Amino acid sequence: MQINSTDIPFSDDLDINGSLKEFFLQQQVYRAAIKEIKTKLEILDEEFQSKYDHNPIHHMEYRLKSPQSISEKMQKKGLEITAENIRKNLTDIAGVRVICNYLDDINRIANLLLRQDDITLVRKNDYINGPKKNGYRSLHLIVLVPIFLAEKTESIPVEIQIRTIAMDFWASLEHQLKYKGQNEISEGLRERLKYCAESITRLDEEMQTIYKEIKSQECQTL
Ligand code: GTP
Ligand code: MG
Repeated sequence: MQINSTDIPFSDDLDINGSLKEFFLQQQVYRAAIKEIKTKLEILDEEFQSKYDHNPIHHMEYRLKSPQSISEKMQKKGLEITAENIRKNLTDIAGVRVICNYLDDINRIANLLLRQDDITLVRKNDYINGPKKNGYRSLHLIVLVPIFLAEKTESIPVEIQIRTIAMDFWASLEHQLKYKGQNEISEGLRERLKYCAESITRLDEEMQTIYKEIKSQECQTL
C-alpha cells in the first residue's frame, strides 16, 4: 500500500457527488484515529525502552486510503458509493503499519494495545502463525478507537499491520513485483518468492534467539 502521512488531495478524475464530498470532508476523523493509535503505540514503545532498555518498534508508517482506492474497493464489493456505505463497509480507510525489531515484539505490542479500555478489537488475522499461500506474513488487527468531537463521539476503525523488519522487506518487494509486469507472475517465480519468505522466517527466528541469548548473558553479568 502507498503510505504517506500527508493529506490526500481530491482527485479531479473522480466524480465526487454531494454525499461523497461530505465523506471526504469527514476524513479528519480518520486522521484523528491514526493520531490516537500512533500516540498509544509511541507511549508503549517509550515505556518499554525506559523499563527494559529495548524498543519493540523499529518505526511506523501511516496512510489514509485515497479516494481512488476507496472508489475501486466499493466497486469490487458491488456497493453503491455513498458516504454511509463507505463508513459502514470499509475498515481500512485509516491504516497504521508497525514495523517491529523482533518476532516477540509483534504479540507484545498487539496485546498491550488490545488491553486498553478504549480499544475494541473487530478482527484479527494472524498471517504469522498461518501465512498466506504466497508466503505473506504479518499480524493484522482491525480496531475501533473513540474520537471525541465537539458534539459527539465516533468509533473509528483503524487497520493495523504489525510485522518485523524482515517481513516488511519481503512484503514491500513482493508488492512492487506484483504490480511491475503486465503479466501474472509465473508459478516458478511464485515458488521462489515463497522460498524467500520462508528463508526470512528462519532469519527472524534466529535473530530472536541471538537477542535472547545476549540478553540472558547481560543478566548473568549484572
Ligand atoms: P484487502 O481487500 O486487500 O484490504 O483485503 P482484506 O480486507 O481481506 O484484508 P487482508 O488482511 O487480506 O489484507 C489487507 C492488507 O494487507 C492489504 O491491503 C495489503 O496492504 C496487505 N497484504 C495482504 N496480503 C498481502 C500480500 O500477499 N502481499 C503483500 N505485499 N501485502 C499484502
Ligand atoms: Mg486493505
